[in-house]
Amino acid sequence: MATKFCTYFFILSLTFTIFNLTSQSSSPETNTLLTFKASIQDSNNALSTWSNTSSNHYCNWTGISCSNIEPISVTSITLQSLNLSGDISSSICDLPKLSYLNLADNIFNQPIPLHLSQCTFLETLNLSSNLIWGTIPSQISQFGSLKVLDLSRNHIEGNIPESLGSLKNLQVLKIGSNLLSGNVPAIFGNLTKLEVLDFSQNQYLVSEIPEDIGELGSLKQLLLQSSSFQGEIPGSLVGLHSLTHLDLSENNLTGLVPKSLASLKNLVSFDVSQNKLSGPFPNGICKGLVINLSLHTNTFTGSISNSSISECESLERFQVQNNGFSGDFPIEIFSLPKIKLIRAENNRFSGQIPESISKAVFLEQVQFDNNSFSGKIPHGLGFVKSLYRFSASLNHLYGELPPNFCDSPVMSIVNLSHNSLSGQIPQLKKCRKLVSLSLADNHVTGEIPTSLSELPVLTYLDLSDNNLTGSIPQGLQNLKLALFNVSFNQLSGKVPYSLISGLPASFLEGNPDLCGPGLPNSCSDDDMPRHHNSGLTILTCTLISLAFVVGTGFVVGGFVLYRRSCKGNDNEVGVWRSVFFYPLRITENELLIGMNEKSSLGKGGIFGKAYVVSLPSGELVAVKKLVNFGNQSSKSLKAEVKTLARIRHKNVVKILGFCHSDESVFLIYEYLNEGSLGDLISSQDFQLQWGVRLRIAIGVAQGIAYLHKDYVPHLLHRNVKSNNILLDANFEPKLTDFALDRVLGEAAFLSTLDSEGASSCYNAPEYGYNKKPTEQLDVYSFGVVLLELVSGRQAEATESNDASLDIVKWVRRKVNITNGVQQVLDPRISHTYHQAMIGALDIALSCTSVVPEKRPSMVEVIRGLQSLESRTCIANLQDPNEEHSIPV
Ligand SMILES: *[C@@H]1O[C@H](CO)[C@@H](O)[C@H](O)[C@H]1NC(C)=O
Ligand SMILES: *[C@@H]1O[C@H](CO)[C@@H](O)[C@H](O)[C@H]1NC(C)=O
Ligand SMILES: *[C@@H]1O[C@H](CO)[C@@H](O)[C@H](O)[C@H]1NC(C)=O
Ligand SMILES: *[C@@H]1O[C@H](CO)[C@@H](O)[C@H](O)[C@H]1NC(C)=O
Ligand SMILES: *[C@@H]1O[C@H](CO)[C@@H](O)[C@H](O)[C@H]1NC(C)=O
Ligand SMILES: *[C@@H]1O[C@H](CO)[C@@H](O)[C@H](O)[C@H]1NC(C)=O
Ligand SMILES: *[C@@H]1O[C@H](CO)[C@@H](O)[C@H](O)[C@H]1NC(C)=O
Ligand SMILES: *[C@@H]1O[C@H](CO)[C@@H](O)[C@H](O)[C@H]1NC(C)=O
Ligand SMILES: *[C@@H]1O[C@H](CO)[C@@H](O)[C@H](O)[C@H]1NC(C)=O
Repeated sequence: MATKFCTYFFILSLTFTIFNLTSQSSSPETNTLLTFKASIQDSNNALSTWSNTSSNHYCNWTGISCSNIEPISVTSITLQSLNLSGDISSSICDLPKLSYLNLADNIFNQPIPLHLSQCTFLETLNLSSNLIWGTIPSQISQFGSLKVLDLSRNHIEGNIPESLGSLKNLQVLKIGSNLLSGNVPAIFGNLTKLEVLDFSQNQYLVSEIPEDIGELGSLKQLLLQSSSFQGEIPGSLVGLHSLTHLDLSENNLTGLVPKSLASLKNLVSFDVSQNKLSGPFPNGICKGLVINLSLHTNTFTGSISNSSISECESLERFQVQNNGFSGDFPIEIFSLPKIKLIRAENNRFSGQIPESISKAVFLEQVQFDNNSFSGKIPHGLGFVKSLYRFSASLNHLYGELPPNFCDSPVMSIVNLSHNSLSGQIPQLKKCRKLVSLSLADNHVTGEIPTSLSELPVLTYLDLSDNNLTGSIPQGLQNLKLALFNVSFNQLSGKVPYSLISGLPASFLEGNPDLCGPGLPNSCSDDDMPRHHNSGLTILTCTLISLAFVVGTGFVVGGFVLYRRSCKGNDNEVGVWRSVFFYPLRITENELLIGMNEKSSLGKGGIFGKAYVVSLPSGELVAVKKLVNFGNQSSKSLKAEVKTLARIRHKNVVKILGFCHSDESVFLIYEYLNEGSLGDLISSQDFQLQWGVRLRIAIGVAQGIAYLHKDYVPHLLHRNVKSNNILLDANFEPKLTDFALDRVLGEAAFLSTLDSEGASSCYNAPEYGYNKKPTEQLDVYSFGVVLLELVSGRQAEATESNDASLDIVKWVRRKVNITNGVQQVLDPRISHTYHQAMIGALDIALSCTSVVPEKRPSMVEVIRGLQSLESRTCIANLQDPNEEHSIPV
């Protein structure tokens, strides 16, 4: 069969060859392209059509376009995202009409291919997202014909050469996401045609914004975000009269925003967030827009003069958050005709929200928490139909909530906590998308509106610290509330049971007249027979457990005891179901009783509190109570936990069983009493030797690699951090809290992670915009743990560790300065180990690479760390002063 096929194929190719020789005399362009192909490694055979044995004309080859004017010739080559590597050969410049070359998103690993400057008519060179390294040589000036140069997302380092300024034809210059450093020279005087300038995400670019950028009269996009620009924003930017996108966010800019920026009329997006800018915002940034305010009445009477609205009429995004701005907020912004996003949180702005906000018909998101805004919440807000987020916590807003404040049909997040609002909470019927409502710490009175229980996706409700009265509506039980905080009000009466059982008691405290099981007051109509039932429960459970113990003894993975007979009071507790993978000999009641403030393991993770519970045998287990689990069916929940419980790896904590009712899920883990790596690093006397640290890193990496590659189904940890790495008495690390997405369901998992963890420095930067779970996200988080081990410093910024930088930013800034690497290494470790520590630091830096594709796999990480280990052993032998107590 195979022989037959080969023969057939041979004849076929022969036919083609003959055909080819006769019909398509091997043209020079064909040969040029084939020569180019010959130097390229094409592991996926993406260029299979590039062949002189087929009858296919070269203009029809993958990625090739030709001019249709005679003589026909190649004008454009687009070979993006084909996993190509090898050499980019200059032979391609033999194509006389080549003007466009796009090799973006491949794995070319080489310096900038200067020889392509021989392509006389080349106008576009796109090498973004490759592995291009080295500096930008001054000979870059040879690319005189280029109009578009895109080198973003590579590893280009060193200074920006002045000769870049001689590329007078450039319209697009993008060098974002590289490792450029130093000062940006004044090179812009001659780049008069430049429309897009992108130097963003070059963390080592410590520079002022050059004045002469202001000479770029055609510039539409100026993207300098997330680098290290410092000093003031130059007033010369007034010259950028074509500018539509200005992004200076996440730099170290200081001083005032220059008045002149007010005249940039074509701006669509203005972002100066996360700098150290201060002072008042320039008056009349959208000057001429005259607004008739009526701030102190509850009726909408705002009007906008029509005469000169054109000033800012294109502005869609206005972001000035996380700076030190003070003075009046430019309230004109609130009523611009195209505005979508306003973010001004964490400044000291004063001012009021105008009624004319109703004119902002495209407004989607407003955030100005933590400022000094005052005045009332205008009725106009309720007329903005596209608004989905409005948060204004920590201001001085007062007055009543307008009845329509939640009328936008897409409204999902409202945060008005920590203001001085009064009056009652209106009945909320229209905002069917409302997920989160916080009115905490105001002066709101009256009852909790019953209409809240009809909002289908309401998940977070915080009404604490108000003066609410009456009882808690029974209907709220129907919601899947992850947070329901009504503490410190004047509420009274019986608390719906599921709100007691599923949520911490602290959410109800400070309401002396509330009653119910577990609260200081029991309700007068509480039914008594519960005693009888729970007695029965214990009996049933004990009997079954006994039978189980007798019948099995010690059982390894996969054995499941499934009970549905254990139930408490039918109306209240609901049916408990347990699945044990290990003979635990404990009843749910005993578990529940064992889980109290005393047995709680301190902080707990964001997915729920953990408790240590003693089994009747004296053995200890850790029990994690998951909050906010999605609506998985009992069957799929069981299947998922079983999947996780089958894992047997020395670096992954064993799941011993679980227990669930309609309201709660408890995961039962083996208990390790040495605490977590996070506890250790944060303790005052953190002293671990290098050899031990390296062992821990290798163990953790092996645990993660096991989940990624060896375990079937492949799993992602999705929450790697030092607090989720437990240590046994021999410092063998064990991962916990792994793959909770499987138990909670993706939606509930993400919403929990987002509610508290989005800003965590363990999360890779791409997590902010792409929630797709990937191995690279785990690798990044592991890299952060490794940085903690190398530096002996906690990951998150804390009061005590001097700077306000998280560990990734801190290390990145250090390693760029002379002797900075030495400063990163934990001074508590002997110099003997510095070589190995620097090796580990290198691995950590590549794991925390901003570009996910550039992070190594966990298997590569293990290999790297193990090679350091052999070096560490040698260092150990050479240093007689160092103790030799590397644990097993
Ligand atoms: C074209 O094909 C012939 C035979 O298949 C081969 O000998 C020749 O080297 C090819 N030309 C190029 C430029 O590869
Ligand atoms: C490309 O292929 C199409 C059909 O597949 C054919 O009509 C066309 O003539 C080819 N172009 C060239 C330049 O050979
Ligand atoms: C990409 O190419 C490299 C080397 O050429 C190869 O090792 C790798 O498997 C390829 N990746 C994919 C996804 O094809
Ligand atoms: C370069 O190619 C990438 C990938 O196709 C694309 O996203 C990017 O916009 C291109 N750059 C320019 C300046 O067109
Ligand atoms: C602009 O071009 C002129 C003439 O080529 C040259 O003298 C000058 O130095 C250039 N300016 C910059 C900023 O490169
Ligand atoms: C920011 O700039 C200030 C003043 O120029 C400087 O003291 C500080 O070190 C800079 N901070 C960072 C993180 O670069
Ligand atoms: C503002 O309102 C006042 C009275 O309500 C009116 O006289 C005046 O013309 C309005 N101004 C504009 C610019 O609409
Ligand atoms: C405002 O201007 C638009 C067009 O520029 C016009 O259609 C509209 O009638 C004007 N409105 C008022 C109140 O003058
Ligand atoms: C609640 O009301 C009481 C009496 O009406 C008042 O003394 C108290 O200050 C109010 N508390 C808050 C937080 O508004």
